[in-house]
Amino acid sequence: MSRRISGFTPSGSLHLGNYVGAIRPIIAQQSTTDTVVFVSDLHALTVEHDPAQVRRRTLEFATLLLAAGADPDSCLFLVQSQVPEHAELHYLLECATGYGEAQRMIQFKEKAGRQEHVRMSLLTYPILMAADILLYDTDEVPVGEDQRQHVELARDVATRFNSRYGPTFTVPRAVNPPVAARIMDLTSPGDKMSKSTSGDAGALRLLDSPYVLRRKVMRAVTDDRAEVRYDPALQPGVANLLTVLAACTEGDPAQLAPAFARYGELKTAVADAVIATLGPVRERYLELAAAPDHVRKVLLRGSMQAREQAGRKVAQVKEALGLLAA
Ligand code: AMP
Ligand code: TRP
Repeated sequence: MSRRISGFTPSGSLHLGNYVGAIRPIIAQQSTTDTVVFVSDLHALTVEHDPAQVRRRTLEFATLLLAAGADPDSCLFLVQSQVPEHAELHYLLECATGYGEAQRMIQFKEKAGRQEHVRMSLLTYPILMAADILLYDTDEVPVGEDQRQHVELARDVATRFNSRYGPTFTVPRAVNPPVAARIMDLTSPGDKMSKSTSGDAGALRLLDSPYVLRRKVMRAVTDDRAEVRYDPALQPGVANLLTVLAACTEGDPAQLAPAFARYGELKTAVADAVIATLGPVRERYLELAAAPDHVRKVLLRGSMQAREQAGRKVAQVKEALGLLAA
């Protein structure tokens, strides 16, 4: 059976785009595909961070994933830093990766260009991501465009390692997430809805109350054409509302358009659909968050389970590289 992995870095807040583009699809397939779901907390340390906030968000993300339906009995469910093999394999893979290879990463160049103090870990981050993937013999990595180059790096490293030190890793490939729809920011529909949007009005957060979700949708930017049509180039705001409605109802944005005569009607339908989709996730989250010790236990159990597999892989890698058996 092929194996898939999804990682969520606990920076910013998870939103509807993450839910329909990444969380819902990976959870939908966990009973039919071998699945690894994890919170990539080590990745949150590659830029300036507040320790208390990383810890809080790690628990929040894990709890949200559980609330959305991640089932630790059906998938491997873990927190990256609780499985020390991720960091261990990271170093071992650094010894099989060229400096130039890491330096070429577009995301590194973009992020490094915006900062005065660039952490070494920002440069080596894709190698840690390669470790996340290769540790579990993953075949497929569903990622958006911005992460494709990192999965390519993981492929290159795996292929090179296998030919230089003997067959050790499954060579992974990037796949498109099943829902291709890109959800845009409600206040500036030219930009992707993102975890770290500075203004809060443009993103529908998984933890927003129904009241807040509705208010954000009702205030979403449209245009003055007063015509509900699916035309992302001419009417990006309206097209995005239709995309959101389609994502929530698993319909088609262009086919939904004729059902609405006015923007107000469309917005009401979108708000209802968003609340129907995210409301139950938030309610379940609030139940789980009331028992954080239970969630912590679930995480530790998942991480222990992951360590069994990860440990075997690391032992194999160390052997291949010429290290003494522990
Ligand atoms: P990120 O928030 O950038 O860490 O994204 C994690 C994953 O969530 C991506 O690989 C996408 O699959 C999904 N995702 C993030 N933002 C959006 C969006 N605006 N629309 C659809 N999917 C998204
Ligand atoms: N880098 C990914 C992101 O920022 C998260 C991530 C870390 C990941 N390790 C991964 C995703 C391994 C897939 C596989 O979105």
